[in-house]
Amino acid sequence: SEAGIPRSGALDDGPGFLLDGYTFGQRRFRKLGTDAFTTRLAGRPATVVYGADAARIFYEGDRFSRERAMPTSVQHLLQDEGSVQTLEGAAHHHRKTMFMQMLRPEAVAGLTRIFDAEWTAATVRHADTTRSLYDVAVETLTRAAVAWCGIPEEAVDVRQLAGDLAAMVDRAASFGPPNWAARARRRRAEASARSLIERVRRGELSIADETPVRRIATETDADGGLLPVEVAAVELLNVLRPIVAVSRYLVFGAHALHHHPAWARGVAADDEAAVRFANEVRRRYPFFPVMGGTVQRAFDWRSRTFQPGEWVVLDLYATNHDARAWSAPERFNPDRFTGWNGDPNTLVPQGAGEVATGHRCPGEAATIALTAEFVQRVAAEAPFTVPPQDLRIGLRRMPALPRDRFRVRFAGPGA
Ligand code: HEM
Repeated sequence: SEAGIPRSGALDDGPGFLLDGYTFGQRRFRKLGTDAFTTRLAGRPATVVYGADAARIFYEGDRFSRERAMPTSVQHLLQDEGSVQTLEGAAHHHRKTMFMQMLRPEAVAGLTRIFDAEWTAATVRHADTTRSLYDVAVETLTRAAVAWCGIPEEAVDVRQLAGDLAAMVDRAASFGPPNWAARARRRRAEASARSLIERVRRGELSIADETPVRRIATETDADGGLLPVEVAAVELLNVLRPIVAVSRYLVFGAHALHHHPAWARGVAADDEAAVRFANEVRRRYPFFPVMGGTVQRAFDWRSRTFQPGEWVVLDLYATNHDARAWSAPERFNPDRFTGWNGDPNTLVPQGAGEVATGHRCPGEAATIALTAEFVQRVAAEAPFTVPPQDLRIGLRRMPALPRDRFRVRFAGPGA
């Protein structure tokens, strides 16, 4: 029975989701006075849930798989066939270990150092010009990601790759021609990643040991054979693409400093304050709206039995703004992370639960480190000014960005 879980008023909430964007769940949870409701999304029955308890059920205990978890238009741009996200059980654990080892703390520190140097170079390159900070962040992070992966610069077209990787994220929630165009760019990026993996395997490129590209090229499957080249290429993109996606948090970090300048002094002076600021940016600003999952093992929750095959959609945005976990959730307040208990199911912009055993993002520490480093440098060095423009962040367009893509005027040389 559905005793504990009310039904949404609409016959199908697909159009409502497109109309309301990030606030889709919040509006309905509030109206129905519930943390779960059933509906249809584009014809498919779904239960939409939010909050720490729902996040725990969704991410812990192997209850869900990612099979048919998201529309193919999203899936093909973000993860694709054979990736770690599509695996479960022992095969998932084996592949996830590779990601966690590639993203261990020393490696994250290395990525942050490379990013630092690239950002310095970008401020010099763009001195005295007005640019979209989003575009500059994409370019900077692509260069950093390529170098950190150990890919020789001459082996890829960095500009083209930057545009392709950014389009995969920007177009993930769009339909029709814009989505197809981004899928064509993804296929191009996959083809070049495949040829790169093949060249590494043939020893044609000089690649340092312990680099992600070597690790992925030489990684074996649970059965001991090399990963199929298509899968290795997909996993290489699974490192490059999300590093470039951190560009959104860099823009949001700059946006937050611009609107809340009182925090700048503390962020500039104190690494821990910069990390708290980065976490509040990740909590407060919109990125992944929801995550879908398909029940693979029956379980009971809210007086109802969830059967294998059922589709559940966890609202990440609503969970990050849940008043049961966060006081005054709409307020931007990095101090809420002073003495925070670290509950893995309340701050969930990159998934919930445990990273090693579930699908939580293995790139979270890298994301926090890059964002904290960036806001600290912006706060300390004031490398740009922010000319008048539309700084509003519409919550309908997913994924979100400030309307004018945060244009900044870089300081002159030697400033
Ligand atoms: C998984 C978001 C950065 C690599 C995830 C998931 C989310 C997410 C929500 C969970 C997907 C699920 O439940 O199935 C983000 C956001 C980022 C980010 C918002 C900020 C830009 C990164 C970075 C990396 C990365 C920097 C690697 C360098 C991955 C991988 C998975 C994943 C490989 C799949 C994990 C698995 O299925 O076990 N990410 N991520 N992400 N993320 Fe991230």
